[in-house]
Amino acid sequence: MKNRVINIGIIGFGTVGAGTARILMKRHKELQAQLGVSLKVKNIADLDMKTDRGIKLPRGVLIKDAHKILNDPDIDIVVELMGGINPAKEFILEAIKKGKHVVTANKALLAEKGQEIFRAAKRQCVSVGFEASVAGSIPIIKIVRESLIGNKIGNIFGIINGTANYILTKMTEECVDFGSTLKEAQDLGYAEADPTFDIEGIDSAHKLAILAALAYGLPISLNKIYTQGITEITPLDIGFASEFGFKIKLLAIAKPSGKEVELRVHPTMVQESMPIANVNGVFNAIYVEGDATGAGLYYGKGAGDMPTGSAVVSDISDIARHIRAGAADRMQSFDISGRSGLKVKKMEDVSTCYYLRMSAIDKPGVLSKISGILGDNNISIESMIQKGRKREKAVSMVLMTHEAREKDMMKALKEIKKLRVVSGKPLYLRVEGAHA
Ligand code: HSE
Repeated sequence: MKNRVINIGIIGFGTVGAGTARILMKRHKELQAQLGVSLKVKNIADLDMKTDRGIKLPRGVLIKDAHKILNDPDIDIVVELMGGINPAKEFILEAIKKGKHVVTANKALLAEKGQEIFRAAKRQCVSVGFEASVAGSIPIIKIVRESLIGNKIGNIFGIINGTANYILTKMTEECVDFGSTLKEAQDLGYAEADPTFDIEGIDSAHKLAILAALAYGLPISLNKIYTQGITEITPLDIGFASEFGFKIKLLAIAKPSGKEVELRVHPTMVQESMPIANVNGVFNAIYVEGDATGAGLYYGKGAGDMPTGSAVVSDISDIARHIRAGAADRMQSFDISGRSGLKVKKMEDVSTCYYLRMSAIDKPGVLSKISGILGDNNISIESMIQKGRKREKAVSMVLMTHEAREKDMMKALKEIKKLRVVSGKPLYLRVEGAHA
């Protein structure tokens, strides 16, 4: 067994594929010493055979046709790093059908089709490793699935999209608007040419769907996650947030309570004193409460060739260990069947404190009209700032509320929007860490 070779086929030779291959080649000897098997990259499939990835592969390793990997009986582990839903899903299911173990970084695919993929893997007694799908270098899948197994997991708050965090950090530090910060992030290669998934919170929702399933034994519930992006945030809101002692972060939130769990992704005002408020730039951080451990904050790089490649190699190594020990489907030992009975809470029933900003005419009686609507909808005001004094002209009016139900707030906002003294759409942000 000592000299057993484990053959690996990588599908997708982009950023993460290249990082993975680089680590496997650079650390081949050390990995062999630690695992007792030799990890060999037999083939890497990619349609682009020309781009120089800065890695010297032995002749014949880079191929065009992924089916060669899937049909190769010698390949033990298929590593899917191409992204997207199709054909990644077909390739993974084909690999599983052929009895191969799979490692993937594909959070969109797992969030949408994970249930089907994990079921197929269980039937075939093979492993699916997905450490690289959430938060790159932070081993959060392992933490939630294994390290915290002795805990009932409570609230989770995550900054799990580096692009959005980079944009919000820049806007905060340099007081620049969303559009120009996004453009800069794209020019620097942080944001994709199509940044929709990052800035609209969809990428964070994919990752939250995976984390919540593992943490609470839920089926993966992407379509039940309330998702709102950061495109409407302005430097003005960041400034007001700071006056109240808060920062604005795109948070992925999971809050279990009783038989329900809140799952939501949205820009959130977090108290400046909370450690997660000080996670800046492209970094990720995930705060997880365990009933035995108490609160923990896990921090690190959430993307990039080597940080994410490191997570892929960790899964490959786990599978190699299990193959060696003859327990190769061990990584399927988590329960996302829904046996826990927990249901995702409807967003309209969620209660949080709110920040509201509206443009209102500066004249007597306006505030009482607004506060009247809030009061009629069971919403109590905690504090208020009016900026400037412009008799009979529009000024920014900012309110913080005590805890209120989403349903009530949405109704109140509709009514406020109809007031003639309020111009434009009021902006609202949910608040975490404030006193209810
Ligand atoms: N696009 C993601 C981010 C990285 O900006 O964090 C990969 O998950």
